[in-house]
Amino acid sequence: MTAPIRIAPSILAADFGHLADEIAAVSAAGADWIHVDVMDGHFVPNLTLGPVVVEAAKRATDLPLDVHLMIEAPERSIESYVKAGADRVGVHVETCPHLHRTLAQIRELGAQACVVLNPSTPAEAVEPVLGDTDQVLVMSVNPGYGGQSFIDGVLPKIHKLREWIRERELTVELEIDGGVAAGTIARAAGAGANVFVAGTAVFGAPDYAAAIAGLRKEAAAAFTG
Ligand code: DX5
Ligand code: ZN
Repeated sequence: MTAPIRIAPSILAADFGHLADEIAAVSAAGADWIHVDVMDGHFVPNLTLGPVVVEAAKRATDLPLDVHLMIEAPERSIESYVKAGADRVGVHVETCPHLHRTLAQIRELGAQACVVLNPSTPAEAVEPVLGDTDQVLVMSVNPGYGGQSFIDGVLPKIHKLREWIRERELTVELEIDGGVAAGTIARAAGAGANVFVAGTAVFGAPDYAAAIAGLRKEAAAAFTG
């Protein structure tokens, strides 16, 4: 079974003064998921938003909210994000000493579980829980800011994860986040990613629908999953 190509605009690059309108606009423009970046100023240097904004985002769209938690001790606040409307919750392996338990916690709350890897964290860190997660997110920049350059060194990791998913016949979404744009998206799709987070490449474009369609076309042409 071929995994569907999904484009997930990251609202980090949206105009926060008009957030609901921005989310409605990318939803109407053909986005599949809405990616929401939560940063705590500790695990990453930047500070962004919390459950109140997730709740507002939920009211602005019918699309799934893909909530990426870049926070220390995520197990303490997962419940408040799910209650606020997170459909998918991503936790960094670097912040989870009890990763299996934290993924189970997300699922017990009724959301889809996602495990996230920083660029320098190897695929092997997620291998033991691959059968216990709905999604793996490979960071292709060091998390903290939008608008950074894609790190090509993560491509072999994507390739390895796609191979494991295929061999084990798992239904796991394989997502990439950071510097995804025209040009880089084909390399990520060629390595086996099927979900593409794009902040600047969508919200920085004059025509959201054209940007999303362009990314989707390039990814579909290169996808090897
Ligand atoms: C980075 C965030 C990304 C970011 C992507 O820490 O996790 O989701 O918003 O932005 P672009 O697509 O501009 O690199
Ligand atoms: Zn993100």
